[in-house]
Amino acid sequence: MIRLKNAKQIDGIRKSCKMLSAMYRELIPLVKTGVETIDLDHWVRRWIKQAGGRSAFLGYGPGDNPYPAALCVSINEEVIHGIPSKRKIAEGDLVSLDCGIDLGGFVSDQALTVEAGRVSEAARKLNRVTRECLHRGLGAVKAGDRLLQIARAVEGHAKPAGFSVVTRYCGHGVGFDLHEDPQVPNSPHGANPRMSPGLVIAVEPMVNLGKGDVDLLEDGWTVVSADRKLSAHWEHTVAIVENRTEILTDELAL
Ligand code: MF3
Ligand code: CO
Repeated sequence: MIRLKNAKQIDGIRKSCKMLSAMYRELIPLVKTGVETIDLDHWVRRWIKQAGGRSAFLGYGPGDNPYPAALCVSINEEVIHGIPSKRKIAEGDLVSLDCGIDLGGFVSDQALTVEAGRVSEAARKLNRVTRECLHRGLGAVKAGDRLLQIARAVEGHAKPAGFSVVTRYCGHGVGFDLHEDPQVPNSPHGANPRMSPGLVIAVEPMVNLGKGDVDLLEDGWTVVSADRKLSAHWEHTVAIVENRTEILTDELAL
């Protein structure tokens, strides 16, 4: 069931989104060669706490294997949900960051992919096209139109560029919880409801350099491309407010 949000509730979600993007503006300069990804996670935990929010990721998921961090750091062939560790970011890494904040019960979600130092030409193109896919998808978020238009826009940009969209994982409704209905696929399959005012969703293309198939690692979280080729991920939280579409998280300079 899709839970539509009223103007006051969207205002709460907007504040959560602005806090999340403010966090990212300070985090991005810290994502550099030689930094341990666990240090980024600890920095994010402290930042969210001092700002008066809570992590929407820490402890999320199944009771026997809850997500153990506030930040996801997915490097190179890792698609999403990479767990921060003692691993150091290396020159040329493609580093996807994903984070969510719960501010007074209102949840935000945003992801982006940072290039550490000088990355390969292929990595740069993959990252640029994935970011463009996000904006094509967001451009399809319109009251009265159908949800799978987002997927058509995303896939219609990734495929001609020679890349593959990951179909195993999707965007999602967000705002009261991290994952709500509807599912927001990046390839046009499944339920196709009409979008209406009050809809709040996370649009999040995951695009692979090779094939779109993925594997789940032993830790139960880290999703990698099955062919172990590069992957990129960009995400915004977006709302339909009356008859206008508003991207609630901020576009960040990289
Ligand atoms: N942003 C991720 C998503 O959209 C959520 C990460 S799952 C968590 O699916 F467990 F880390 F919270
Ligand atoms: Co998400």
